[in-house]
Amino acid sequence: MISEKLTSQQAIDLENKYGAHNYHPLPVVLSKGEGVFVWDVEGKKYYDFLSAYSAVNQGHCHPTIINALTEQASKLTLTSRAFYNDVLGNYEKYVTDYFGFDKVLPMNTGAEAVETAIKLCRKYAYEKKGIPENEAQIVVCENNFHGRTTTIISFSNDEDARKNFGPFTAGFIKIEYDNLEALENVLKATKNIAGFLVEPIQGEAGVYVPSEGYLAKAKALCEKYDVLFIADEVQTGVARTGRLLATCGNCTCENKDCSGTPEVKPDILILGKALSGGVYPVSAVFANNEIMNVIKPGQHGSTFGGNPLACAVAIAALEVVKDEKLAENANILGELFRSEMQKIVDSSNLVTAVRGKGLLNAVLINDTEDSTTAWDICIKLRDNGLLAKPTHGNIIRFAPPLVMTKEQLLECVAIIKKTILEFK
Ligand SMILES: Cc1ncc(COP(=O)(O)O)c(C=O)c1O
Repeated sequence: MISEKLTSQQAIDLENKYGAHNYHPLPVVLSKGEGVFVWDVEGKKYYDFLSAYSAVNQGHCHPTIINALTEQASKLTLTSRAFYNDVLGNYEKYVTDYFGFDKVLPMNTGAEAVETAIKLCRKYAYEKKGIPENEAQIVVCENNFHGRTTTIISFSNDEDARKNFGPFTAGFIKIEYDNLEALENVLKATKNIAGFLVEPIQGEAGVYVPSEGYLAKAKALCEKYDVLFIADEVQTGVARTGRLLATCGNCTCENKDCSGTPEVKPDILILGKALSGGVYPVSAVFANNEIMNVIKPGQHGSTFGGNPLACAVAIAALEVVKDEKLAENANILGELFRSEMQKIVDSSNLVTAVRGKGLLNAVLINDTEDSTTAWDICIKLRDNGLLAKPTHGNIIRFAPPLVMTKEQLLECVAIIKKTILEFK
């Protein structure tokens, strides 16, 4: 049975029967991917407009990354950190140069990296800033999404994510996103604030882009009140928003080397997903020595974090981003995509707005948040050869791999137009 070729329905039935029902996937069963395309088990070809939630920025099965994976896999995969390995140091040098920090702490998933950043921020607050032990507070934003661990859901306001998973971790204060006054008020009025954790664009919430200058001003407030600015770029990082990092301030890839140091430099930067091109779970937390050096042996870690296979894959994935100028491509195609979507907004009552940066975009559907309209449109898009997923009942995220060409993007625009204009 295991080696038998399954039909889509058989694969879905198996997942339903033997897997926990913690996801609600679009009914399509994929068995192959290459570049911007994926194929289902019946051989139908689709444009991937989700990129595994922005993990596959470099496109499916990029040959450079797969070569690095197979080459390293045949030599050494895992040593644990009980011993040194001959790839980790090279990776750490490469990746810290690439993103402009003194040090990196390697982990595997995005949520683990967020947990790591929280621990680092707290420890720094107690040991370097003199905040009394167990009193540190971290400011977060409403409608955030930072992952699924118990601590992270403690500061979520998504009821599905929280209900019956308590008791929760204390030490977080929620404020409105994109509200500098709220940030300054809380920084001014509250003792013992250690950090401000923020997504440069709120992805899962529905691709909310903050006002121009929000990040730079928030960083300046954090400096004023001596609070660490922690950027969760798990979804926005690695060229997705048309720059290497979404915290690159006002730089555009036409006039700046995207591998340069970001204009809004976080004190702690969190990356995951596309750090490995979606080939292997690789995440990372970056900080300068003053902060990172508070972590000592035995105080944090992970069996798989920093394994040689992950390191080799991540170096290759980041080389692809640079060599193929993916940030620049995302910037140019993103402009084109939003201007084409705007034409649909202008000509249809079904779609009310398009927003986003680079190739992280969303369209808003003229219906309520709890409706199934966005889902129903995604089913029709699937039928027409394009895979996307709603973030809410009335928001569809569009995030294709960044290796897309202009011609392919225009073909996708035509599919989306046809689907929306025909939708009843
Ligand atoms: C901003 C952000 N942080 C953290 C995560 C969690 O990453 P992971 O699913 O790899 O744990 C996500 C996942 O979507 C995310 O978008």
